[in-house]
Amino acid sequence: MLVHRARVLLPSATLAVDALAKQLEEKGKPVINLTLGEPDFATPANIGKAAYKAIKEGFTHYTATAGILPLRNAIAEKLKKDNNVSYEPSEIIVGVGTKQILYNAFQVLIDEGMEVIIPTPTWSTYVEQVKLALGKPVLVPLKPPFKLKAQDIEPYINKKTKVIILNSPSNPTSAVIEKEELVKIARLAIEKNIYIVSDEIYEKLIYEGTNYSIASLGNEIKDLTITINGFSKSYAMTGWRIGYGAGPKEIIKAMTSFQGQTTSNTSSIAQMAAIEALYATQQPLKKMKQEFERRREYLIKEFSSIRGITFTLPEGAFYFFVNIKKLLKKGETSSKWCERLLAKKYVAVVPGEAFCAQGYFRLSYAASMKNLKEGIRRIREYI
Ligand SMILES: Cc1ncc(COP(=O)(O)O)c(C=O)c1O
Repeated sequence: MLVHRARVLLPSATLAVDALAKQLEEKGKPVINLTLGEPDFATPANIGKAAYKAIKEGFTHYTATAGILPLRNAIAEKLKKDNNVSYEPSEIIVGVGTKQILYNAFQVLIDEGMEVIIPTPTWSTYVEQVKLALGKPVLVPLKPPFKLKAQDIEPYINKKTKVIILNSPSNPTSAVIEKEELVKIARLAIEKNIYIVSDEIYEKLIYEGTNYSIASLGNEIKDLTITINGFSKSYAMTGWRIGYGAGPKEIIKAMTSFQGQTTSNTSSIAQMAAIEALYATQQPLKKMKQEFERRREYLIKEFSSIRGITFTLPEGAFYFFVNIKKLLKKGETSSKWCERLLAKKYVAVVPGEAFCAQGYFRLSYAASMKNLKEGIRRIREYI
């Protein structure tokens, strides 16, 4: 019999819709899949070349568990240059994707019954990983435009609160947290001695406003923060499985021990590729962002002209989080609505339930303009 934590673990709802869409595709249906959170661009060629070189030169063995020093140096430089926060290489760990780094962090920060504040709508992985660490996810509902404020979380803080999760720009709402609110959240965390896990994976994809790393706001908050980031979204490297975390030395050391007994280091080849990604030209990234901006503009125009739906301006990432509450029939859930959209019009989007929010769907515009146009045409027709 499975243990309790395995029984209460929910599978990824995004991957579930994606699987359903793929089944229909296999049956020859003309599916437009707008579910997935991965850039539809090839990993830049220079990054691939660095990986070939690593293989050719035999750099194909175990590395230091926390990642090779040149990569941790490159990440430290990046964090200083882009995020205005100084970390030593010993305060950095590289792992098998951002997801694994988050998992490591929760495993070393949370004990049974400790509470973790998660503003919602949220990426469900945080909730499930906190459960796996035997912690208690405390969901804080945000209202549109879903921009987190310190006052939203303050009432949920108590003696058991150990961690606050920040994700800016956010998956699924694409909202960015304002700097003045980060300052207030930092103050709150320092006053109550609460850790911050700051997932900044979409920081390079930002169209309105500026992203700030909370750890850059002073040494006191830096000492309570694990800054988490990765290469999946910025460099179209989802398959390479490489992400990193930076934080206080003793936490990173514990995360490294945890990693040493679980996944060990991430791929040596991916590590060499990541060094290239950080040091080489950032031109491909700029081009990718320009294309995302073009699609975003198109979708703002289109969604604005569909009656019955509302949405908040996506500030970053590549998602629209669309409110369909007015379209739902009595008793109908957004899950049912999305299922019907897929069954009738072969358009796959992810229902709000996957993000702890009822009455919404998330559309990813990490899809070709051709598919977006056809997808929107069908959604309009369906509505
Ligand atoms: C907010 C957020 N963090 C982390 C990840 C996972 O990134 P990685 O591929 O580095 O594990 C995702 C992927 O969808 C995400 O949306």
